[in-house]
Amino acid sequence: MERSLILLKPDCVQRRLMGQVISRFENKGLNIIAMKMIQVTPDLAKQHYAEHVEKPFYPGLEAFITGAPVLAMVLEGLEVVAVVRDMLGATSGLKANPGTIRGDFSSSRQMNLVHASDSIESAAREIALYFDASEICEYTPTLTPWFKADDE
Ligand code: PPS
Repeated sequence: MERSLILLKPDCVQRRLMGQVISRFENKGLNIIAMKMIQVTPDLAKQHYAEHVEKPFYPGLEAFITGAPVLAMVLEGLEVVAVVRDMLGATSGLKANPGTIRGDFSSSRQMNLVHASDSIESAAREIALYFDASEICEYTPTLTPWFKADDE
């Protein structure tokens, strides 16, 4: 099982799209094992987006991500990092394919609704930024046998 750090960004919260996005993850069979609403601070934003801090777009990204609450969650599932990135679509909502979350709801590169870890290593780093170990609720979903065959 893999884990991924997901943020429903301020545009997702403000546009009342949280329920629809969470439903997509649940419908896919992914397991929500942690969730909380938080206000990202500039310090947390700089840690999260460390590789982008020097880029020209970073000041705008920081103002956006700290400008209203986000819903942070940890998803668990088979190949969840790649599965969720595919569900989101391309970074820019204008480039994302119809049927993806961004393709259906976003027309922006900054206001693209959802952040998802881009690798297993990033997920471990990002989960530790947003959650204490005690906030992660591991459990075995009773539907597990219906999501794939034992020999897949
Ligand atoms: S990705 O999906 O991580 O590969 O995308 P990337 O292009 O590397 O972008 C990383 C995050 O920076 C945001 N971004 C921008 N914000 C504002 N303006 C511009 N021009 C811009 N370009 C990229 C983008 O929304 C990504 O945020 P996250 O939270 O990682 O999705």
